[in-house]
Amino acid sequence: MMSRTLILSFLVWNLVFISGPCSPILTHAAGGGQWKLLKQNIGITAMHMQLLKNDRVVIFDRTDFGLSNISLPNGKCRNNPMELVVEYDCTAHSVEYDVLADSIRPLMVQTNVWCSSGSVSPDGRLIQTGGFNDGERAVRIFRPCSTCDWEENVYGLMVPRWYATNHILPDGRVIVIGGRQQFNYEFYPKSKLYSLPFLFQTYDPRIENNLYPFVHLNVDGNLFIFSNNRAILFDYKRNLVVRTYPQIPGGDPRSFPSSGSSVLLPLKNLQQSSIEAEVLVCGGAPNGSYVQAENGKFLKALNTCGRIKITDVSPKWSMETMPLARVMGDMTLLPNGHVLIINGASEGTAAWELGRNPVLNPVIYRPDNSYGSRFEVQNPSSIPRMYHSSAILLRDGRILVAGSNPHVSYEFTGVLFPTELRLEAFSPSYLDSGFSNLRPKIISPASQAKVKYGERLVVRFSVLGALSEKRVVVTMVAPSFATHSFSMNQRLLVLGGGKAISISKSTYEVEVTMPNSGSLAPSGYYLLYVVHQDIPSVGIWIQIQ
Ligand SMILES: *[C@@H]1O[C@H](CO)[C@@H](O)[C@H](O)[C@H]1NC(C)=O
Ligand SMILES: *[C@@H]1O[C@H](CO)[C@@H](O)[C@H](O)[C@H]1NC(C)=O
Repeated sequence: MMSRTLILSFLVWNLVFISGPCSPILTHAAGGGQWKLLKQNIGITAMHMQLLKNDRVVIFDRTDFGLSNISLPNGKCRNNPMELVVEYDCTAHSVEYDVLADSIRPLMVQTNVWCSSGSVSPDGRLIQTGGFNDGERAVRIFRPCSTCDWEENVYGLMVPRWYATNHILPDGRVIVIGGRQQFNYEFYPKSKLYSLPFLFQTYDPRIENNLYPFVHLNVDGNLFIFSNNRAILFDYKRNLVVRTYPQIPGGDPRSFPSSGSSVLLPLKNLQQSSIEAEVLVCGGAPNGSYVQAENGKFLKALNTCGRIKITDVSPKWSMETMPLARVMGDMTLLPNGHVLIINGASEGTAAWELGRNPVLNPVIYRPDNSYGSRFEVQNPSSIPRMYHSSAILLRDGRILVAGSNPHVSYEFTGVLFPTELRLEAFSPSYLDSGFSNLRPKIISPASQAKVKYGERLVVRFSVLGALSEKRVVVTMVAPSFATHSFSMNQRLLVLGGGKAISISKSTYEVEVTMPNSGSLAPSGYYLLYVVHQDIPSVGIWIQIQ
């Protein structure tokens, strides 16, 4: 019998160019995974998305796109003299998607949430910050409950934050970094403003390129901050640059609006005294792409990824070539530790009207495969997901994909890439029914279990077919705040495995040790998975504290 890896390697892909009148669409045959249209119309575009612990996804775009296609609840209207487009607005600019019920509920934001940022607090509330105009200093809280709505404090931030990046910290606070013309950072709850000259050093006066910096919490508690084409390791407590990483080879910009994306690769061997951490940065737009695009010339996006061991004392970038060039892609960690690269375009750049040639095929990156055999092209969607689209992992292992509106207002007709209100899910091939005999099912603990740092956790699960006990791992994933091609707070920890014991027919137990510090896993809600031969179970929610 052929092994699964062997079968996958047989899935050859080839390039097909389908030429349309104004824009050739890039697609591929074969690959893996399946697409499903979940909703024809959720009323708004998914510029920002966050999954909460009740399996509901908070989605929002901006209050000044014009009238959305969904009404506010209970006949409510916003009458806001500060609003720039529609002062008296009875439409919603935020919705909640209930994954289990597959239904949409309109929500009411009071101020402009455009190009903002967020993190989830240890108790499971979404803490969203900043935006534009009357919302630029707002802190908004969204509690996970079936009737909850946004609560706002319009002066929750020290300074305006538009295109900033947030990260949840080991002490439960949120750090808010940068934003347009903000070469500094602050915290929620509000305290002081601290300067961050690195954001100015990486500022390109032509087009910025230092926005939505890629921020990852390193295992030593410092923050890895990547802006434009380079990165630092930053001690936010002492306001000190601990390490300066080399510029990414080629020197092309990777952060907004030259939007590549980035993930912290799965953290492993968590019981060792020195834990390694690696960061992957993929795609983006070459230097000068923005200026060229404004003149109608759409340069090919970057097709490279840079991978770097951020815990090394003298780290070096290792470069890899993706099968598809991509700007404005999203990178989503899958429960089995693979990385999904999805959405975006192969020409141009982020920002209004500047992207061309949607990349309809996601690509899976397998970090543990040998160099040169890590990428696999997946089956294409038929829906372009350009500027202002997003992707997040759901508890059942599907990837929720929505959004795309590269126009200043909602434009449904007569444009190259109409405003996209459709909600889709991508199911990686691990969800194929052919793998049902391999797929674990978690029996205990029950979802929403509370666990402590360093605690030994016994996970009981069933597998219908033969178990390969050496190929069982338990992972935990932090649901991320996805916007503008970056998923804030995203991290995956491999807790262990490989020693599953049989309890009764088809039932097994595996014991793992929870991470022992908030630097490895900030307190809060995570999705826990049992993964068998790369096939994940449906996840359960756990709260680590
Ligand atoms: C949404 O769009 C449909 C189709 O154009 C229209 O019939 C409906 O009235 C719109 N709803 C809202 C609330 O704008
Ligand atoms: C990008 O292009 C600008 C203008 O041509 C140039 O000044 C700058 O040095 C370039 N940056 C890199 C990293 O190549």
